[in-house]
Amino acid sequence: MNEVLEVKNVSKTFYKDGARTEAVKNVSFSLKEGEILGIAGESGSGKSTLSRLCMGLIKPDGGEIFICRQKLSKKSIKSLRPKIQMVFQNPADTFNPAFSVGSGLSEAGRCLGLEKELLKKRIPELLKLTGLSESVYNRRPKELSGGQLQRLAIVRALLCSPKILIADEAVSSLDVSVSANILNLLSDLRESLGIAILFISHDLKVIGSLCDRVGVMYRGELVESGKTEKVLFEPENDYTKRLLDARLD
Ligand SMILES: Nc1ncnc2c1ncn2[C@@H]1O[C@H](COP(=O)(O)OP(=O)(O)O)[C@@H](O)[C@H]1O
Ligand SMILES: [Mg+2]
Repeated sequence: MNEVLEVKNVSKTFYKDGARTEAVKNVSFSLKEGEILGIAGESGSGKSTLSRLCMGLIKPDGGEIFICRQKLSKKSIKSLRPKIQMVFQNPADTFNPAFSVGSGLSEAGRCLGLEKELLKKRIPELLKLTGLSESVYNRRPKELSGGQLQRLAIVRALLCSPKILIADEAVSSLDVSVSANILNLLSDLRESLGIAILFISHDLKVIGSLCDRVGVMYRGELVESGKTEKVLFEPENDYTKRLLDARLD
């Protein structure tokens, strides 16, 4: 199968106020077209740093990242940017409250260099695909629910037809039933678009319900990875076992 994201021996250390944090240590994994890979780990284990590295928002100290077989670098980031997009934990924070939903989406599309005509066609298609009514177009973000806003964040991420979607704690701020709907949507998008998803969550239960494979991070390291059933039901690493136990409390 076609590898759309390859992370090879990537490391990132932060220095702040005299403290040194090895946020990501020698991490390697790959993600294939149409695959959903979960990255689990407690808060502070390096998950968001890893997602920012994959997005090219920060530069690794060591290692290499390939997006659709092209090496991510300062030079290639502009052309690779449309191939990898992201949704975050709190969708409300990522929409400008002054803009209507429609103008916000059009503006996001323009920033990605997409033609007006294309957006006119693409936005209604994506609203439909994500289960949103076209009437949200003229609304303001604050008039929408958390679930609707997260669908909208997904629409915005899909404007440029990316190959990879990174969801960093994308359902963590939502109620259980709303979260389940968004998880179903992600699963449907993989089916309908063949998009690959890097699904990051501290919650192994959520990961288990969606992902084909899981990687577990602990203090910056990928301590275990494999098929979801294997990692969840026959974990080998002590930290994975602890994370699974904690989830049952
Ligand atoms: N910009 C930064 N400067 C300094 N330390 C950081 C920075 N970003 C993250 N860290 C540290 O790196 C570690 C991993 O953080 P993060 O990747 O956000 O973990 P997670 O998403 O798993 O909660 C934490 O100890 C965090 O404090
Ligand atoms: Mg995080």
